[in-house]
Amino acid sequence: MKYHDVIVVGGGLAGLRAAIEVNRHNVKVAIISKVHPLRSHSIAAQGGINAPLENHFRGIYDSWEKHAFDTVKGSDYLADQDAVIRMTKDAAHRIYELEHWGCPFSRTAEGRIAQRPFGGAGFPRACYASDKTGHALLHTLYQKVMQFKHASEREELVIYEEWLVTDLVIDEGVCVGVIAMDIISGKIEALQAGAVIFATGGSGRIYGNTTNALINTGMGMAVPYWAGVPLKDMEFIQFHPTTILGKNILITEGCRGEGGFLLNNKGERFLEKYDDSRKDMEIAPRDIIARNIVREISAGYGFDDSYVLLDLRHLGKEKIFRRLPGIRDICMEFIGIDPAESPIPIKPGQHYTMGGIDCNTECETKIKGLYTAGESACVSVHGANRLGGNSLLDTIVFGAIAGENTSKYVQSTGGKKGEKRLNDVLNLRKQIIDKIGKSTGTEEPVTIKNELNKMMDTNVGIFRNASALQKAACEIKTLQERYHRIKLNYTGTQVNLGLVWVLELKGNLDVAEACIMGALAREESRGAHFRTDFPRRDDTNWLKHTLSYFTKEGVKLDYAPVNIGPFAPKERKY
Ligand code: FUM
Repeated sequence: MKYHDVIVVGGGLAGLRAAIEVNRHNVKVAIISKVHPLRSHSIAAQGGINAPLENHFRGIYDSWEKHAFDTVKGSDYLADQDAVIRMTKDAAHRIYELEHWGCPFSRTAEGRIAQRPFGGAGFPRACYASDKTGHALLHTLYQKVMQFKHASEREELVIYEEWLVTDLVIDEGVCVGVIAMDIISGKIEALQAGAVIFATGGSGRIYGNTTNALINTGMGMAVPYWAGVPLKDMEFIQFHPTTILGKNILITEGCRGEGGFLLNNKGERFLEKYDDSRKDMEIAPRDIIARNIVREISAGYGFDDSYVLLDLRHLGKEKIFRRLPGIRDICMEFIGIDPAESPIPIKPGQHYTMGGIDCNTECETKIKGLYTAGESACVSVHGANRLGGNSLLDTIVFGAIAGENTSKYVQSTGGKKGEKRLNDVLNLRKQIIDKIGKSTGTEEPVTIKNELNKMMDTNVGIFRNASALQKAACEIKTLQERYHRIKLNYTGTQVNLGLVWVLELKGNLDVAEACIMGALAREESRGAHFRTDFPRRDDTNWLKHTLSYFTKEGVKLDYAPVNIGPFAPKERKY
């Protein structure tokens, strides 16, 4: 049986950052990723990463305290303030570390790291690399990982590329490793570990209308969930205000940060009409703008009852070419529009999972030896609504914390454990796969997936209510039941992506169920969770985190207090 001191599941920003930290502590680490790390969804991040550097000082003082306050207020007071303070205090240091590792940030005229305004701050706080910030960060971390890999003679850093983790193995309350399938050969193995970090990204693909990559199925949240780790705050789903109509591709908040306007069919900057977005207009927080776009379209002021326009023309060609070249490429490539000459048709789309695997500020889960970081985790720093630019920061800060704490844990507990349990779980997984291969069922995975996506888009969207959520709760049960009759069209072992999709679809369904049931239970509106039947925030009854536990009968909900620090909850007026 293969053994690694630490196994990091996920090769995106949080996973790579964690692996670097483990390696720096002289602990052996393996990264398991179902795609090549440079194909992780982190690569798609566009607009920026927040840190209070004050490189565009215009008489506005910035500090970690201000950043923390904006984050807590943006979260509609559901974020844990100890976690937020940890993240914002660390932000500047982590950005300079990335700079020293060679990250090609865009620059001010004086040569400092450039910053642009993003929602929630109202002034430049988001550091960026044109509009390909995720790309720049991911390459920087991957290079660092490669540097460690090539420097070590004793396989101190190993990467399993294109391996799917199917199970987390827990023995007597301690995490002892994972079961994973080598997608290329089809071989399934038990991989023993002193500790495991889950950094597998979000679960946006439970929706159809999403900016997320196809790989963001939610499987990385489902695997610990099935093993008894609760998911936290899954009802809080972020809808990004601007995705390209019909394609769902992200059009960065950076466009609005650089001065872009949102226009209705009368050519008006309609955000001005709404109390909650009048002050900050296009750089109000995302939940507010997304709702006001939908309201505007519903009131008949959209185009074809389905979209509004994002106008960048007044920024001028030079600025668009220099600051937003990726957006121009995407628009030209996918809809044949040059944003320097025509406005972009946009509508909101699912973008981010605020909830995730429950953990504390040390990235520890309730299982000893199991840690988590990045979008798959819920620390929680984003609460009910994440500010743009804080997700990249979350990956870098908590990736490093997870790596450091895991290393210390392994150094103090050490050693291989749970071999028998690993073999038992491996055999169970092999039996499940065997059963799927022999299934005489008639249910096509793609049909179930498409129906799930449509159901989530329709019933668990920006505006929610009890009857739609109850419908979703019934439909998910039906889909889960139909999953038992799933059909596998190809049963070969090598590169069987059909099998990968079937295995992941179970994760999709169970994670979606946690989201639906959390949303149905939460009878209030907070951040991105807007209930038309309960339109107000209710701190008396709902200033608490939702915990979802997996049971064979379905989700079991529980609640946990929010860690309130220096920022007392106030009405979120803008
Ligand atoms: O709009 C964007 O560039 C996305 C940033 C984010 O989700 O933080």
